[in-house]
Amino acid sequence: MLRNVLIPAALAFGLASAPALASGGAHLDKQSWSWDGLFGAYDKAQMKRGFQIFHEVCSNCHGLKLVAYRNLKEIGLSEDEAKAVAGEREVKDGPNDEGEMFNRPGKLSDRYIPPFANDQAARVSNNGALPPDLSLITKARAGGPDYVYSLLMGFEDAPADYKLNDGMNYNKIFPGNQIGMAPQISDDLVTYADGTKATSHQLTMDVVAFLNWAAEPELDERKSMGLKTLIFLLVLTGLFYALKRKIWADVH
Ligand code: HEC
Repeated sequence: MLRNVLIPAALAFGLASAPALASGGAHLDKQSWSWDGLFGAYDKAQMKRGFQIFHEVCSNCHGLKLVAYRNLKEIGLSEDEAKAVAGEREVKDGPNDEGEMFNRPGKLSDRYIPPFANDQAARVSNNGALPPDLSLITKARAGGPDYVYSLLMGFEDAPADYKLNDGMNYNKIFPGNQIGMAPQISDDLVTYADGTKATSHQLTMDVVAFLNWAAEPELDERKSMGLKTLIFLLVLTGLFYALKRKIWADVH
């Protein structure tokens, strides 16, 4: 009986823990995230910093096709900032009155414009490897944000007896331990507008937090709904208990 209530409740609040072992063999480096636990929520300042890294670094190779530029207002960018970001890349539109397709700068209603025109172009620029779209990456991998954190921090020198193929990099977390992406994170990779010190750990936490928001933007709302439901159920239980006592009071 209790299990029937507790398990869905734990799932609703994201308390059920994910497997801790990466397919690369090494243990995931488990972090504590602002949205963990019953009362956790996204930290807007962190989302904004994470977006800065995605935009300045990761978006040179990775797309984010499920996020529209206007969604960036949800993490604290102003309308003008979001517009400016959108306008940095061009997208194909049309046909116009002459029946021609044309390029125009991105606008708020566009999805984040990918860096490459197609997968083939992406592979050619990346030594044959395809940089996946990152919109759902924290959901697509066992371990979620802890996996992405550990992967980004998991680059090492290959052991002497390990055969690393040309153009590949050793990563203790990635399945098979060689990955077509070079290490991306280093201290002071970007300069944060809010003055936060850009250590490798901080940068990685921030960009993963942003990617988690991209994959699960409704998390804050879902949690507060869950909490309200739980309080409602508790009150209801109290009422039923009182009622039961009253009904049975005269029965001996
Ligand atoms: C210069 C291009 C480049 C940049 C910049 C880059 N990546 Fe990648 N990334 C790749 C490629 C290529 C792959 C595919 C690797 C493979 O399959 O071997 C990849 C794969 C990944 C994966 C998927 C790993 C998996 O489990 O399949 C994640 C997550 C990732 N990158 C995150 C990031 C983040 C976050 C940033 C920014 C901090 C970033 N990348 C910047 C090229 C890049």
